[in-house]
Amino acid sequence: MSIKNFLTLDSLSRNELESIINRALELKKETKQGEFKTTLNNRVLGMIFEKSSTRTRVSFETGMAQLGGHAIYLAPTGSQIGRGEPLKDTARVLSKMVDCIMLRTFEHERLEQFASYSNVPVINGLSDSFHPCQLLADLLTYQEARGSIEDKKVVWLGDGNNMCHSYMNAARIFNFQLVVVCPEEFLPNTEILKSSIKNTIIEHDPHNAVENADLVVTDVWASMGQESEHIDRKEKFMKYQVNSEIMSHTKDDALFMHCLPAHRGEEVTEDVLEGPQSIVWEEAGNRLHSQKALLEFLLI
Ligand code: CP
Ligand code: NVA
Repeated sequence: MSIKNFLTLDSLSRNELESIINRALELKKETKQGEFKTTLNNRVLGMIFEKSSTRTRVSFETGMAQLGGHAIYLAPTGSQIGRGEPLKDTARVLSKMVDCIMLRTFEHERLEQFASYSNVPVINGLSDSFHPCQLLADLLTYQEARGSIEDKKVVWLGDGNNMCHSYMNAARIFNFQLVVVCPEEFLPNTEILKSSIKNTIIEHDPHNAVENADLVVTDVWASMGQESEHIDRKEKFMKYQVNSEIMSHTKDDALFMHCLPAHRGEEVTEDVLEGPQSIVWEEAGNRLHSQKALLEFLLI
């Protein structure tokens, strides 16, 4: 049987993704009731982080522990990765010892190369181009709050980055309408846009874009690896800030999501982030349940 990876949402079919989300709902209910089934007894997840993380690390580590397995954290400091051992060598070595590997890295090609050398499933814990694990949690969160996302209007405000690309994939797979509003200089990748063009519209005016929106989503203006551009980007992105004035143009029951960490006063204001339309804390918590379901899907 061929190994299943989760490198982008397109690694799996809509049916498979839906079954993961439904299983996440079950796992969440069980966890809340204090029921823990050790479906991944003795299984080990290796986690390689070439960039910082709070949510991704803790959700995978907790998830493995709750399912009866174990997770090992590796970072450039303290492992041979930081001393120049090639990722393709690390992939082959870890494949002999662990059952699944999560990699957070820079260029998406690094992840693809890693997966091609791995004999166990590889999960994208975020690359410069995609963040599919976050989308599993976002889709679960929307479904819990409002039901099916199909045919809903989702507006992405800000940078055409890894999260935006994964939203574009999700719009095509789950058939919702995605309006992307970015400064001209920071539009999403053309090839990824082309592949989701039936469900994605590029709009330039944030006010027009959010009219009748069911969900507004944003993310930091300078992603990990772009820290030196932060000040310059702040000026260029100010018009795309999600604030209460912008949210007043959406549907009355519209929701706000952000993968976090958030920069208050930049891409989102404090009142929106902490306000009644924001479901960011539920969204962050759902990383645990959706990734437990993903791990079971890949490993059982
Ligand atoms: N949203 C997210 O992936 O958070 P971390 O960078 O803290 O893992
Ligand atoms: N776009 C952000 C997401 C962080 C979870 C980044 O890549 O830094």
